[in-house]
Amino acid sequence: MSEIAIVGTGYVGLTAGACFAHLGHRVVCYDIDKEKIDKLSTGEIPIVEKGLETLVKEGLKENKLSFTSNPQEAVSECKVVFLCVPTPQQTDGTTDTSMLDSAVSLIAQFLPKNSVLVNKSTVPVGSAQEVFEKLDRPDIAVVSNPEFLREGTAVEDFLKPERIIIGSEKPDAAQIVAELYEKVEAPLLITDPISAETIKYSANAFLVTKLSFINSIAAVCEVVGADITDVIKGIGYDSRIGEKYMNPGPGWGGSCFPKDTKSLIHMAGQAGYDFRFLDTAVAVNEEQFDRVVKKISNVVGGDLKGKTVAVWGLTFKAGTDDLRDSPSLAVIKRLQAEGAIIQAHDPTVQEHKEGIPVQVMISKEPLEACENADAVVLLTDWAEYETLDPNKVIERLAEPNLIDTRNVFNPKEWEDRGFTYQGTGR
Ligand SMILES: NC(=O)c1ccc[n+]([C@@H]2O[C@H](COP(=O)([O-])OP(=O)(O)OC[C@H]3O[C@@H](n4cnc5c(N)ncnc54)[C@H](O)[C@@H]3O)[C@@H](O)[C@H]2O)c1
Repeated sequence: MSEIAIVGTGYVGLTAGACFAHLGHRVVCYDIDKEKIDKLSTGEIPIVEKGLETLVKEGLKENKLSFTSNPQEAVSECKVVFLCVPTPQQTDGTTDTSMLDSAVSLIAQFLPKNSVLVNKSTVPVGSAQEVFEKLDRPDIAVVSNPEFLREGTAVEDFLKPERIIIGSEKPDAAQIVAELYEKVEAPLLITDPISAETIKYSANAFLVTKLSFINSIAAVCEVVGADITDVIKGIGYDSRIGEKYMNPGPGWGGSCFPKDTKSLIHMAGQAGYDFRFLDTAVAVNEEQFDRVVKKISNVVGGDLKGKTVAVWGLTFKAGTDDLRDSPSLAVIKRLQAEGAIIQAHDPTVQEHKEGIPVQVMISKEPLEACENADAVVLLTDWAEYETLDPNKVIERLAEPNLIDTRNVFNPKEWEDRGFTYQGTGR
């Protein structure tokens, strides 16, 4: 008998399942994707996530972790069931909760009496109550336990989180969920479901604001001639500000920030508050993609038509294979709209995948992407780019232009080798 069932075995669900098993619980992971479940049952991991494969194999070997595509088998003997299904964005900015609804209806009849159903998916404020009403099972408590892990460091974030948030109307249900995290050292906040749901959106809203802020300061640095690296250091000494998460870049993206930000703006609006401040953070981010394109256009002479641009990095950040709402793809689409030809490299992309425009040529090596290009732009800061030899890069390029949107290279080193170097804010 398993204590925990995980519904939806993606970045969050698989990490949660493997980590709970590692913490000593018996976990069964369920997904509607049978192919995924078949692979996972043999220890094959469908995503790139540091340390996850080891934990999955350990869980399988010790019989702590199992996988199934049968909802009854998954939940019928579990005390606690975590919902970890996608909650994507709809065209009007609202959250599409249809997968959550469908997951709930698939498992509803099999949930044991007095079990606890936990929303770990990021769901609109009020969802715990909505799920409770839809379930129509007064014996079951619906609890909110938002997830804050970051792709790329998901396992570490899950096992050593900065906080655990549990929102429940019923103290005993909150306690049951809290006990699952007994071995995890982190501040624990037990609150009501609406506050727990709001905490998740507020955290992401704050982070995107920070990123849009620092990208704006980088833009100021460029026009006044300041160096963003020193500016960040200088303001970061102030403990009220700090240096963390202050890295300028090509704009923010990923599977969570854009949709969660739009969802919060929409929810606030519906409830009667016009969240103009967050609207601006989103607009600044769109401008940031345009700014990158403008920089590339400038270095190639002002017109991108027919110019070849080498792109290093396609995923939304290093350490993951996730391409959802990647800033790199946002920039690529703008470059293509202006007539540029794209040769791209990413360590996790060997061939075309969903989301990558078909015209993008995929290179197997970062140097191959540079062949005869008029400029190379670093968009995702994979460690392997940092160690590239400028002499080898320059040999491949038609023109020695480097746009380093994440400031990973030493400008002097590349300029000394003959490059025209452009960072962000320096
Ligand atoms: N990815 C992150 O970094 C992250 C971090 C915090 C919170 N979240 C939130 O967690 C949730 C899940 O995100 P994710 O990135 O893990 O998604 P994902 O797309 O990686 O995985 C979701 C899984 O759910 C499965 N699924 C879909 N419908 C199902 C159903 N009815 N029954 C069972 N399984 C079903 C899919 O097949 C897929 O394997 C989202 O709400 C997201 O916003 C994600």
